[in-house]
Amino acid sequence: MPAIAVIGGTGVYDPHLLEDPREEMVVTPYGEVRVFCGKWRGKEVAFLPRHGTAHSVPPHRINYRANIAGLKKLGVRFILATAAVGSLNPQLKPGEFVVVDQFLDFTKRRESTFFDGGPEGVVHVDFTQPYCPELRELLVRAARTLRLPVHDKGTYVCTEGPRFETPAEIKMFQHLGGDLVGMTGVPEVVLAREAEICYATVALVTNFAAGIAPYRLSHEEVVAMMKSKEEELRRLLLQTVYW
Ligand code: HPA
Repeated sequence: MPAIAVIGGTGVYDPHLLEDPREEMVVTPYGEVRVFCGKWRGKEVAFLPRHGTAHSVPPHRINYRANIAGLKKLGVRFILATAAVGSLNPQLKPGEFVVVDQFLDFTKRRESTFFDGGPEGVVHVDFTQPYCPELRELLVRAARTLRLPVHDKGTYVCTEGPRFETPAEIKMFQHLGGDLVGMTGVPEVVLAREAEICYATVALVTNFAAGIAPYRLSHEEVVAMMKSKEEELRRLLLQTVYW
C-alpha cells in the first residue's frame, strides 16, 4: 500500500512519473477515483492528476472529496500536492517554488467537508497550521539541497475559477495578505486534514497575476512555464519522497 501520494496539478499529468505505473479504480462514497500506483526509488507511491491525465476536469468540477477519500482508502498518509499559481508578491517570481503555509478561501460552490452533518457528526477541525509543518520542512530542504529557488512560506488565495481574476480582485487579495493565487488548493487541503492525512503543497509561480503582469494571462502561458519546470519539479518531489 502506498503511504505517500503525489497530487499533480496543472502540467503534472503523466503517471510515468512513477516506475511501471498501474491504474487502480478506487470506489468511495463520493464517486470512483482513478489513481496510479507505482514505485519511486523502491518506495510505493500513488499518483493522482487532479485535472485528469488530459486536463479535462476544471477546478470547480474536481471531485475533491472522492480524491481524498480514495487516497485514504488506499492507505495514503502523506500527500505532496503541486500547484501552478499566479503571484501577487513581487518577491515571489515566475519560475520560483513556494512551499505554501496559509490560505485564504474564496471558493464559492464546492463540497468542502467530510463532516456534513451525517453519521460523523458536527466536527470543527483546527486550522492554525493548515499545511503539515514536517512535510513542508522536507520540501524546503529538498529544494535547497537541489539548489532550486524556493520560498519557505506564502499565503495562497484560492478562487473559484475557471476564469482568471480581475486586477481589482488581485489588489483586494494583496490588501488581505495574499501572496499567490490559484484555483484548486481549497478544499483539497481541508479534506486532507479532515481525513487526518499529512498534506503539503509546493507551488510553482507561473506568472504575475492579472494587473501586475503587463499583458493578458493565458492558460497556455501557465502550461508552458510548468512544462519548462517539469524536470525540476520531478526532482524536487523525488528528493522529498526519498527522505
Ligand atoms: N490565477 C489563478 N490561477 C492561476 C494563475 C493565476 O494567475 N496562474 C496559475 N494558476
